[in-house]
Amino acid sequence: MSNNQIEEVKNKTDIVSLISEYIEVKKAGRNYKANCPFHGEKTPSFMITPELQMYKCFGCSRHGDCFTFLEEHEGMEFSEALKYLAEKAGVTLTLVKNEESSEKEKIIEINKSALNFYNYALHDHPQGKRVLEYLKATRGLSDESIKRFKIGYSPESYDALANYLIQKKKLNINDLEKAGLLVGRGIDRFRGRVIFPLTDHRENIVGFAGRILPWAMQDMAKYINSPDTPAYHKSHILYGMDITKSEIRDKKYAVIVEGELDMISSYQAGIRNVIAIKGSALTEDQLRLIARFCKKIVLCLDSDFAGDEATKRGAIMAVNMDFEVKVAHIKNYKDPDEAARGNPESYKKDIDEAASLWEFLINQIFSKYDSGTGSGKASISKEIIPLLRLIQDKIVQSFYIENVARKLSVPTEAVLEEIAKISIPNKNNSKISEYKNVDKNRRQLLEEKLLVNSVEKIDLIPVDLITSEFIKKIINYLSKNKFPLPKELEEGYAEMVLANSDNENVDLIIKELKTLQIKEKLEEIGKRIKKEEGNEDLLKEFSELSKKLSTL
Ligand code: CTP
Ligand code: MN
Repeated sequence: MSNNQIEEVKNKTDIVSLISEYIEVKKAGRNYKANCPFHGEKTPSFMITPELQMYKCFGCSRHGDCFTFLEEHEGMEFSEALKYLAEKAGVTLTLVKNEESSEKEKIIEINKSALNFYNYALHDHPQGKRVLEYLKATRGLSDESIKRFKIGYSPESYDALANYLIQKKKLNINDLEKAGLLVGRGIDRFRGRVIFPLTDHRENIVGFAGRILPWAMQDMAKYINSPDTPAYHKSHILYGMDITKSEIRDKKYAVIVEGELDMISSYQAGIRNVIAIKGSALTEDQLRLIARFCKKIVLCLDSDFAGDEATKRGAIMAVNMDFEVKVAHIKNYKDPDEAARGNPESYKKDIDEAASLWEFLINQIFSKYDSGTGSGKASISKEIIPLLRLIQDKIVQSFYIENVARKLSVPTEAVLEEIAKISIPNKNNSKISEYKNVDKNRRQLLEEKLLVNSVEKIDLIPVDLITSEFIKKIINYLSKNKFPLPKELEEGYAEMVLANSDNENVDLIIKELKTLQIKEKLEEIGKRIKKEEGNEDLLKEFSELSKKLSTL
């Protein structure tokens, strides 16, 4: 079916009545609200906007349209949800597919056939015997895990895979290349490796990882992965998510490990809410996917975690995306895989006792130096001040500032002063920080309210009052075009509509924004006056603005 048909089904479906079939929904201003069906709650934070045909829960962050609702609530596949809603809406789906999705589906189909081959080679081919033995005896995998994770083997042969797929399955060599299965004409990319199929959270096989075997030449990469294809994007993959997502939702947190084998061993040891990031740092895409299932992660990575800047950045990004982030310290073992097999009980305890990310990073810095000496304190300060500055939540920040001051045996003010030093804006970016002490959140909220309450009269919005670039973009777009908004604006806009249900008086909003704007200017000028004592122009401007403020 085409994208147009998906749109047609969506247009003919009313999300409010659809969701009302499953849960009780009440009108709330321009939106509707309900107790969230995805997480337990007594006061409703699940909002539906008929205007945009979307829903969002402000408690658990789950959000989407009529299709995702059925996928998440009823466990339907996208195609099932589409068929179901098309039937309800009286739309007959044609089989013309759009190019990109058909490319993707084709690759997924090819991967399925390739996996049959890899599974056969592991379980039924003479070469597979030794590999199976390695997986079971050396890596400690159970038969059940090998089946559940659909592990395979690609035999030591340049062309066996291609022969099978081309001759038996009648597939086309160009398509096999597009799927990333071959290197060069007809050569199996993964030959001689253990195969881990990589699935998206809907169980589609989107690509593969191949691990070297201990008897192979060890100067090759330990792992190779499918190249990026229309089906496989490295930054999206969370290994094991297809199997563990419901457990993650139930437990309300995800244990994040590094590799495929860490994931499988943990699962085998009874930790069922686990996923692997495949050796790389957490990406925003991955975090967005996780956010659909939970808002807490426990990082359970190798012990050199804190030394790795990219990993640290990923973890901090998670905090800024409102995740609760904890870091487990695995005792006595090199990695989760060994811990899960060596002593599952102590491994589980390590996970339960995970420290908050900030605590972990702070301890990490302290452990490197001797905080009893002057030079030790200096080294710690150099690393820890920028870290403390990153903590956005002011309450959490002040907690750790005090904590650090205590550990360094210095007054809290000293730490605060150091933080202030590196926060002083240089002349060039003073524009950005001039609103520093004005309530930014209030301003953002007001700008959102103004937009949401004026979409029908977009030209009446005084654009000079708007500071948010994103909101400016929406206003600019809507002043020239009609709804729907382009993709990059749509989701953010929906958030605003869902968060601001009440119809509000536009004049009052504008008045408050004007007041804020003047106050901001006053604050800025005030600062300059202090610096440039005796600047008459500034004083004049100041008094004019003050007058203006009093007349508002
Ligand atoms: N990885 C990768 N490419 C590599 C090495 C590692 O993509 N060249 C990823 C894999 O996803 C792997 C994870 O990083 O699962 C963790 O690596 P590692 O612990 O070295 O892999 P293991 O197979 O667990 O090896 P070992 O038995 O030595 O622990
Ligand atoms: Mn490992």
